[in-house]
Amino acid sequence: MTDLPALQSGLLSEIAVADLAALEAVRVRALGKQGEVTALLKTLGGMSPEERLVEGPRIQGLREAVTEAIATRKVALEQAALDARLASEKLDLTLPAQAAPQGSVHPVSQVMDELAEIFADLGFAVATGPEIEDDWHNFTALNIPETHPARAMHDTFYFPEGADGGQKMLLRTHTSPVQIRTMMTTPPPIRIIAPGRTYRSDSDATHTPMFHQVEGLVIDRGITLGHLKWTLETFVKAFFQRDDIVLRLRPSYFPFTEPSAEVDVGFTRDKTGRRVIGGAEPDGWMEILGSGMVHPKVIASCGLDPAEWQGFAFGCGIDRLAMLKYGMDDLRAFFDGDLRWLRHYGFAALDVPTLSGGVGA
Ligand code: DAH
Repeated sequence: MTDLPALQSGLLSEIAVADLAALEAVRVRALGKQGEVTALLKTLGGMSPEERLVEGPRIQGLREAVTEAIATRKVALEQAALDARLASEKLDLTLPAQAAPQGSVHPVSQVMDELAEIFADLGFAVATGPEIEDDWHNFTALNIPETHPARAMHDTFYFPEGADGGQKMLLRTHTSPVQIRTMMTTPPPIRIIAPGRTYRSDSDATHTPMFHQVEGLVIDRGITLGHLKWTLETFVKAFFQRDDIVLRLRPSYFPFTEPSAEVDVGFTRDKTGRRVIGGAEPDGWMEILGSGMVHPKVIASCGLDPAEWQGFAFGCGIDRLAMLKYGMDDLRAFFDGDLRWLRHYGFAALDVPTLSGGVGA
């Protein structure tokens, strides 16, 4: 007769110290097809019923004890292996980053942030509108009817006819439709700027099919051209960070403003002959934006009474502002995605413009 208690305690003490490989060896030796415990189970068949009644439970008990000990040991070993791996792969997130910082803020984004900051200080909110516009918001509501020659000047990208249930859809040619959307949804007084992408079928050193504009809109009671001029002067001084800025308002024409003015900023030249924005006595003028008093027809087309509400608006190319402030001379490079250009002209991600910290470079 096999000494079952001795066999069991022998196996259990082996199991208690086995590693995963040894554990598998013990399992095969005890419970495998040719295993010791398996062999014992086979002896049950040759026993008398009385014997089997006594030996059966003992041998089954042995098998269960060994099976359970192996399973328990296996779980413990696997858990220990996982713990060891987790300990060895631990990352210390408090360590400083090893790699040099990657990526930079594009000058266009930087200038948009600067504009938002400057105008926030004057009480302007930032508004947005869709880049895929309908004909009505982009033209008609801005007093540019179907037959108006200004439509031809805009080199519009149209979508195929009927792309949106019959409405003529297009890529907005300016940010001015945000004026309309804002007046139709926000009760006055209104003070917003609307920076964003705009599109025209045009391409050379100073024009790209996609470019950026910022729109400004003020609607209130008793707004005059004086408010417009002060606001623009305050904005341009803050943007170029100098007080000796001279603006020139030249009479002009836009369908959505009356009267309209194009605004030039005076420049002087440095020792090398390069143009520098500013200087009390300008050597010349550079056009930077279009503006005017919002046309009564535009106010009325948004459902407001032009006898009660007046305002001014302006529209300005952001890319050009960035070029004037940061000295790039080819607009196309803005959108080439050349890493050398981005590294040179880009801004550090943490270099957020604030009025207290400065809106310059
Ligand atoms: N939308 C005009 C353009 O893209 C710019 C402009 C001019 C906007 C005068 C205005 C404005 O709001 O008052 O050429």
